[in-house]
Amino acid sequence: MDIRIELTKSPKAKPTDESNLGFGHIFTDHMFIMDYETGKGWHDARIVPYGPLDLMPSAMCLHYAQEVFEGLKAYRTANDEIQLFRPEENFKRLNVSNQRLVIPEIDPEFCVEALNKLVNIEKDWVPHTDGASLYIRPFIIACDPFLGVRPADTYKFIIILSPSGAYYSTGLNPVSIYVEQNYVRAVQGGMGFTKTGGNYAASLAGQDEAHKQNYSQVLWLDGIEKKYVEEVGSMNIFFIIDGELVTPELQGSILSGITRKSVIELAKSWGLKVSERRIAIQEVADAYDAGKLDEVFGTGTAAVISPVGTLKWGDKVMTINDNKIGPVSQRIYDTMTGMQYGKLEDKFGWIYKVTDK
Ligand code: COI
Repeated sequence: MDIRIELTKSPKAKPTDESNLGFGHIFTDHMFIMDYETGKGWHDARIVPYGPLDLMPSAMCLHYAQEVFEGLKAYRTANDEIQLFRPEENFKRLNVSNQRLVIPEIDPEFCVEALNKLVNIEKDWVPHTDGASLYIRPFIIACDPFLGVRPADTYKFIIILSPSGAYYSTGLNPVSIYVEQNYVRAVQGGMGFTKTGGNYAASLAGQDEAHKQNYSQVLWLDGIEKKYVEEVGSMNIFFIIDGELVTPELQGSILSGITRKSVIELAKSWGLKVSERRIAIQEVADAYDAGKLDEVFGTGTAAVISPVGTLKWGDKVMTINDNKIGPVSQRIYDTMTGMQYGKLEDKFGWIYKVTDK
């Protein structure tokens, strides 16, 4: 499919203070769009000026949340090359979400090509500062103007770009996490493994409660017994217990994070013992009491590697590694960001270089 390009006649001023970008507030000059219609497939791929969508108030996505999304980043290297991290993984995962929400699949190879074109047009928007990047948000919405509940016949696939700094204002300083015991995020058979807006809407009440208690994020437990650790609001979670890296196994209600998967591959390549298994919150508390809870960190595209300094479960408040980033978390952070920003060799074939092709 050809991609039509219409460039803006009124480019916006780019941010001058890159230390103050925040996350997800600023958007670039252009976006990618393609449409879908039953019988016609995906068509009319185009890069056009960023702006409001032509969408009816009755559009199905606004009522029944038939929507999926992804998140990845473009990084600037010291030689001014622009790099993406495993972009094909994001589009493959988008198709996993599509299947669950009965949204037509996209062609991951074509989407990587479209993203390459869009990022190349917007390359001057990729921040120059270490730790800042161009956050990329692909998403698909159901567009039929109809109030009945069924899969839609028309969709839009859109990619927007946002120059961003750290997701947490604390940066690499440890975050405080509150273990939610009342609300649940997802259950097996539900949509927890997909990236769909509804999962994040379901997380807001718990997040609100956590904020009221001065915690920045929620750690979700399983939806049935509320015993087993699942994930944090915007990240997967890892524990280092007695030297072993442990993360909850993917059993249907947890997002299959691309950073999660990369951290596991990286840690194994260093010879660390890594287990993907069911982990009870009680086991975490017992390890803490026994002095064996060495480090805790979250992983995500937006959050990168985010050390956890405090974990509150009921009345128990656990302070991890003196509320400082631990040596393994730091090594993983340095290696992942080193590859992403082109400072370290990519031994895994994870880096995709943006070109003007
Ligand atoms: C990401 O890490 O890219 C996400 O999509 C999480 C989002 C809540 C910011």
